[in-house]
Parts: sequence; structure tokens; C-alpha cells
Amino acid sequence: MSLTTGFARVEPKIVPRVSRVGGRLRVPGDKSISHRYAMLAAIADGVSQLTGYAPGADCAATLACLEALGVRIARAGHSLTIDGLGLGGLRAPAGVLDAANSGTSMRLLAGLLAAHSFKTVIGGDASLSRRPMRRVIEPLTRMGATIEAVDGRPPLTIHGAALHGISHAPEVPSAQVKSAVLLAGLHAQGRTTVVEPAPTRDHTERALHAFGVRVVTQGPAVSVEGGQRLTAIAAPIPGDISSAVFWLVLAAGTPGSDLVIDRVGLNPSRAGVLGVLRRAGADIELTPAESTGEPMGSIRVRYRAPQPFAIAPDEVPGLIDELPGLAALAAMQPGGRMTVRGAGELRVKESDRIAMLARGFGRLGIDVDEYEDGFTIHGGP
Ligand code: S3P
Repeated sequence: MSLTTGFARVEPKIVPRVSRVGGRLRVPGDKSISHRYAMLAAIADGVSQLTGYAPGADCAATLACLEALGVRIARAGHSLTIDGLGLGGLRAPAGVLDAANSGTSMRLLAGLLAAHSFKTVIGGDASLSRRPMRRVIEPLTRMGATIEAVDGRPPLTIHGAALHGISHAPEVPSAQVKSAVLLAGLHAQGRTTVVEPAPTRDHTERALHAFGVRVVTQGPAVSVEGGQRLTAIAAPIPGDISSAVFWLVLAAGTPGSDLVIDRVGLNPSRAGVLGVLRRAGADIELTPAESTGEPMGSIRVRYRAPQPFAIAPDEVPGLIDELPGLAALAAMQPGGRMTVRGAGELRVKESDRIAMLARGFGRLGIDVDEYEDGFTIHGGP
């Protein structure tokens, strides 16, 4: 089978309808955690060992950028050995950094590079070049860096500098923005605080903690004192719940199904999809496993007749990447229905995920009402 991630060639496949889904499986490592562990390992003191690194093109782009910044990385399958350069130790790259299709690589690396006193140009593919970057440029500039962009979009030319801490209140809830500012703050003079308009995934806070950095969370405010050094870690990366969701939905929507997914990330700031699946009727059972820093465990999903469901705006940050999977659950049920509002951020991802869902499901004969900030799916056979 020739099926690759990212935008590499994908052979067309005809997928037959299944009568039931059963068994036990594992999914690839979590993308968000992989980016963060690799970046923190790169600026830690010592050699980190990461297992279960995400195999997709986005996390490969992060590794390629780190290598261009002087970091030595050895790969053995999905295991990595990363030789840290220490806080502030990244080196000026010889050419333009390529974040490919990865918004997380570009935004988080911008935070690190803002604090290194050399010039870096970071670009990406056509889709990344359309994505909004002012949300990181503005706070990083306030901290002391100079960043040039093309109408607020990539490529970014980052002139790193000695930074000072700030307090930043982003307009949109975004873990990428929070992370970029905290990573810059780690290198800055004084304290840096991000006050979130709504809680987003806390992988950066947990990862910093795992590498020995003190991060303080008080309500919506997350703070870090600059100048703290990181200590290398040996850590497993849990399976990606954003990959698991498609299996969960397939089992939840197919009569007679009983499926277990092992060693998946169950971080509460990321696992909002499980509550929605329960509300939609699925029988979900969780068994926590031993873990360091990031909660993980097994998810057992058993079919129970699906119910129509709605997702409120305040739930969106906790399941932003799982919305397309959830949409499939509603789409595959005659009489199924899902509504989500407050999800306008979907329009500025690697694609306009609202328009793409409406178009894709439309081709399958499923009605979709499209709104500026969400959609309603009307399921059908
Ligand atoms: C991510 C955060 C989310 C998510 C993206 C990965 C991260 O984006 O959609 O796939 O790893 O921090 P935003 O922070 O822009 O909402």
C-alpha cells in the first residue's frame, strides 16, 4: 500500500463498508508533543531519548529545522537521540529554514529564534505561506525581537535579540501562540506571562516541567521565569488522540463494534473529544497507563446507537483537531446530526477545514450547513 502522510503521493483506495470493527491497536505518536519534546531537547543540557516520535511530515520538518540550527539528531525508527545545545545555544543556519506545511513548527520555532541573536528566515509551502503569523509576531516584537513578514504571513525574517519578559493576552485561544511566547520567555530577562482567553492544550507547560523548568499556572495565566536551564529527558511520546479519533468514530458509529486503542494521550486539555463521543451515545471506557508528564492509557469504545450532538464554543479549543472526525460520526448515521459554532479558527488551518468538510461531505451526498464559525452536518446513508 502506498499511503504516506503530509502531502506526499496517496494512491486512491476504495474502502468497502465494514460490518463491525473489533480488536486492539495503537496509533502514531502525538504530533503536538513530538514537536515540543524535540525543540526542548534541542535547547536542553545533555542527550535526550525520545520514543514514539510522530512519523508525519510536520514533525519531520521540525527535526530538519533543528538540524539546520546545529542540533545533532540520530534516528532509529520512531526513536530519536537529540544532543542538546543548551539554553540559547542554537546556531545561525546556513540557509532558509523550511517549516513545510507545519504551523506548529513555524510558530514555536519563531519563539525560540526570537531569542537567538542572529538572523533566520523561515518559510513553508504554499498553504503555510497563507497562514496568519501576526499573532506571534506582535508579542515577540514586544519582547525585543524584530520580525519581518509579508503582510503578516510567511516567510518570516527573524532578527533575534536579547528579550525581556512581557504579559501577553492573545485575542484567540491558541496553544501555538502561548507556546511561542513561553519559549521566548524562557530565554528572556524576567518573567513572561500568557493570559489565555480560553484554556488550550497544555503540552508546552507539561513538557517544560518534564525538562526541569518551573512553570506557574494560576487560573488563565501561565508564567515562566527566563534563564532557567533545561535538563535532557528520556521519555515516551503517547499515541495521538487526533489520529485515534477516526478509529473511535468508526467503532462508535458501526453496530456491534468493540475496539481498544492502547497508549493514547489522555491529557484532559486535549481529550475533549471523549466527552462528546459519550454525549453522542458511544460507550467509552478509559484505563490509565503508567506515564511520565503526559497522561496516557487505553480507550475502549463500544457501539451504542448514536444520538445527534452539538459542540459549544467553549469546548472547541479542547477538540479543535478532532472536529472533522466527529463530523464523520454524524455524517455516517441516517438521521445523524452535529452542530458546532465558535470554531472559526478551522478556516485558518493548513486548509479551510470548514469549506473542505462541506465540499467533501457534499460529494458523498451529505448535507452540510456552513457558517462562518462552524457547520451543521445532516447524516445520511
Ligand atoms: C497545535 C495547536 C492547535 C492545533 C494544531 C496543533 C499545537 O493550533 O490546531 O494542530 O501543537 O499547539 P492553534 O494553537 O493555532 O489553535
